[in-house]
Amino acid sequence: MVVIRGATTIVQDEKEEIQKAVSELLWQIVNKNNLTKDEITSIVFSSTSDIHSYYPAKAAREAGFEGISLFSAQEPEIDGGLKLCIRVMLFIEKNIRPLHVYLRGARVLRKDLALKINIAIDGPAGSGKSTVAKLLARDYKILYLDTGAMYRACGLKALREGVNVEDEGAVCSLLSSLDLSVEYRDGVQHTLLGGEDVSEEIRTPPVSMAASTVSKYPCVRLKLVEKQREIAGKLSCVLDGRDIGTYVLPDADFKFFLTADTDVRARRRFDELKAKGFDVDLTALREEIAARDKQDSTRAFAPLKAADDAVVIDTSRLSVEEVLACIKKTIQEKI
Ligand code: DC
Repeated sequence: MVVIRGATTIVQDEKEEIQKAVSELLWQIVNKNNLTKDEITSIVFSSTSDIHSYYPAKAAREAGFEGISLFSAQEPEIDGGLKLCIRVMLFIEKNIRPLHVYLRGARVLRKDLALKINIAIDGPAGSGKSTVAKLLARDYKILYLDTGAMYRACGLKALREGVNVEDEGAVCSLLSSLDLSVEYRDGVQHTLLGGEDVSEEIRTPPVSMAASTVSKYPCVRLKLVEKQREIAGKLSCVLDGRDIGTYVLPDADFKFFLTADTDVRARRRFDELKAKGFDVDLTALREEIAARDKQDSTRAFAPLKAADDAVVIDTSRLSVEEVLACIKKTIQEKI
């Protein structure tokens, strides 16, 4: 008796997805191992505890594996385990060297495993990149690096010191005393300027505009990009920004570029800032976003741009869950 193993993932807990994934997995195992159905004595499935819609064993019967003993069980919920995963063991009456089959990224993306991955999510303000990047990092248990926060901290320093942000030379000379660091507490990034936590203060509209202006200067970018590459070189992380896929990490394992209509983006930022207690005006916010888009995408050095190999997603009419599902599906299919 030989045992062949296999696993696959699904994106959503839906009957049709389970049927399709189980059928694909079993037929690939059969084909790769040159089996006939008569050589399979029994098939045992286990699925992660987030799968409820359908029995994999039932899906197997429907996929043509009738007349074989089939069994499905649910796995306990293990912290850090892969989500929405169906695993299988086929017991075979044939003496072969088994070829196991793992589909749709049925491997674990975990920070404690050797596999290091970098996921780049670029896009303009309000395209939803930071929300999605945070959730992705949480689900994969890897780091989220908000690179915009670094440019914001630099813009804030210039404003606090009364430096004209349009004066490139003056901004560059500030850099020698720029004491910028990022820290993680409970998985949340905190941006520190001279040891002071400025994570909230850097979100205001004047700081947004100053960040966009100082980020035009090569001296600023070179300094901050060095920090970003250092972090990404050591750890698996999701980085969001404007130039991650094109400049910071041109070899990132996965690249996404999120876009959305300007009105939708302005409304999102408005709701977000209001919820934090900031007094903001929607029209002024829309103008600021449009001005930043223009400045960020027309600067000479590493402008806001989709990398040629990025997956572009228009989020205007998509929920956060839909964008997240689309990104995860792309990742799962590629790893
Ligand atoms: O993502 P954000 O809105 O927090 O970014 C603030 C500004 O920082 C943005 O207008 C341009 C700049 N930025 C950049 O030039 N490159 C990045 N990788 C991230 C942000």
